[in-house]
Amino acid sequence: MYTLGMSCYYHDSAAALLKDGHVIAAVEEERFSRKKFDDGFPKMAIDWCLKESNISPDQLNSISFYDKPVLKFERLLDNYIAVAPKGLYSFLDTIPKWLHKRLWIKNEIKNHLKGFKGEIIFPEHHMSHAAHTFYTSPFTEAAILTVDGVGEWTTTSFGTAKNNTIQLTNDIRWPHSLGLFYSAFTYFLGFKVNEGEYKLMGLSAYGKPKYYDLIMDNLIDVKNDGSIHLNMKYFAFTHDKVMTNDKFSELFGVKPRKHDSKAEQIHYDIGASAQLVLEEILLKMVNHIHNKTKMSNLCVGGGVALNGVANYRILKEGPFENIHIPPSPGDGGSAVGCAQYLYYVYHNQKRVIESNHSVAIRENVYVGPSYSDDDIRQFLDSKNIQFEKFDRQQLLEKTAKLISDENIVGWYQGKMEWGPRALGNRSILADPRSDTMKDTLNEKIKHRESFRPFAPSILEEYTSEYFDIDIPSPYMLIVAKVKQPEKIPAVTHVDGTGRLQTVSAESNSLYYDLISEFYKITGIPVLINTSMNVMGEPIVNTLEQAYQMIVKTDMDCIVMGNNLIFSGGG
Ligand SMILES: [Fe+2]
Repeated sequence: MYTLGMSCYYHDSAAALLKDGHVIAAVEEERFSRKKFDDGFPKMAIDWCLKESNISPDQLNSISFYDKPVLKFERLLDNYIAVAPKGLYSFLDTIPKWLHKRLWIKNEIKNHLKGFKGEIIFPEHHMSHAAHTFYTSPFTEAAILTVDGVGEWTTTSFGTAKNNTIQLTNDIRWPHSLGLFYSAFTYFLGFKVNEGEYKLMGLSAYGKPKYYDLIMDNLIDVKNDGSIHLNMKYFAFTHDKVMTNDKFSELFGVKPRKHDSKAEQIHYDIGASAQLVLEEILLKMVNHIHNKTKMSNLCVGGGVALNGVANYRILKEGPFENIHIPPSPGDGGSAVGCAQYLYYVYHNQKRVIESNHSVAIRENVYVGPSYSDDDIRQFLDSKNIQFEKFDRQQLLEKTAKLISDENIVGWYQGKMEWGPRALGNRSILADPRSDTMKDTLNEKIKHRESFRPFAPSILEEYTSEYFDIDIPSPYMLIVAKVKQPEKIPAVTHVDGTGRLQTVSAESNSLYYDLISEFYKITGIPVLINTSMNVMGEPIVNTLEQAYQMIVKTDMDCIVMGNNLIFSGGG
């Protein structure tokens, strides 16, 4: 049975195709449109999923859209009435988009997928998040927590899941949102909402949570069960394009930081305070959920689950024995989530859990576009690009040596990753042992804010030697304490942590073998892994985009399949 899922019209549009519940193709629209965080109808992503799987629309059994647009529209109208006349400009901007397009998504889907005759369903937004986290987990039963900005009305939900069923029993509703609380600080500290939250997380490591009490006393009321109530006198997001108002600025004694102005200590301290508040609330929530459910497994979903620092605290200090975070907890990931809901819950299909979770990790992640060896060869020949071809073992040895000699190496292999992170197939790799490598990477390629750390990939079996963590972190969504920072300074953040990806032979054998070769040379089972993109653009998709990395940046070389291409070799 083929089921298609899609998400769009908020941010991170995406499409995913499942065959009998297994993801066989999934990709974000931005990878084709080259518009970062593209929120448009995911037509190229849908077309690619069908082409990749060699099926036509009439072969699709059913389609799932990741939320209920009518309920969302109802919330928008309700909100504008409640805040009127304040939200007039926002109203005039937003409502036509809904009336002309978003409410008619069903027609748009049918127009795009001519020949499709099946049913289209619209699960609730948080149900799609819940489905993505539960059905990518190794658990037969689990408590569920989803936290984001907002779906239709819900901003946080919890419940339980067992076999193929999910029940979300409790929620917190708009405008009281932990995600939007964090996004308000993201905006206030000079970053883009829905995009810059991870920058705020990185920046917060440089500060002290001096404003924790100020925030708790004024901005947010938190109950022992983790339920929250925002003091809307300080927030503007219900009626304006900005997130916070003058009262919010007065509270902290500074104006919102402009994105191009220098971050000062006060910004770091405000960031650290917001981060701590977020973590403390999440801990209250998971304690409450544990009390209520008495379960040992927890699946977390929604955009807030991208906060790896908070995930680590839930893991270390929370009451659950096991936690799971899916490869793509945000709205993009819901394209898979809503299709999983459609297959398992709506169609009531039996769930079979892969006994080796590393295999499930591979199947959850490496499901995007790829190019064959012939395609790569033809591309290189057509462009007269000089390259050296190696067999597998030679390639691994040569690449590991290049990295250990402090070259910055592009690694373009197999299928593109699902989700926001490059996990060893569309990655830029470098040596983590060097103190200066972070600056070199920033100067030569990434040009990003100095407070943002680079992430490590580590052979799974060495994880607890280097990090204070005893579970795999295959999707790079947990930030753990580094145990031996002196050995891997380039991936150790200022607060002594690293946002690690654990790699096993089953989850990605080529990447695992490459790190193993690096380990043989250096004694360090870790590489720097950063996504292959130039600043402001999505991760590379095509061969041309990958090749342009050594044209446009100072990357030293790129490995495409079995072929090594040096910068200047064109
Ligand atoms: Fe969401």
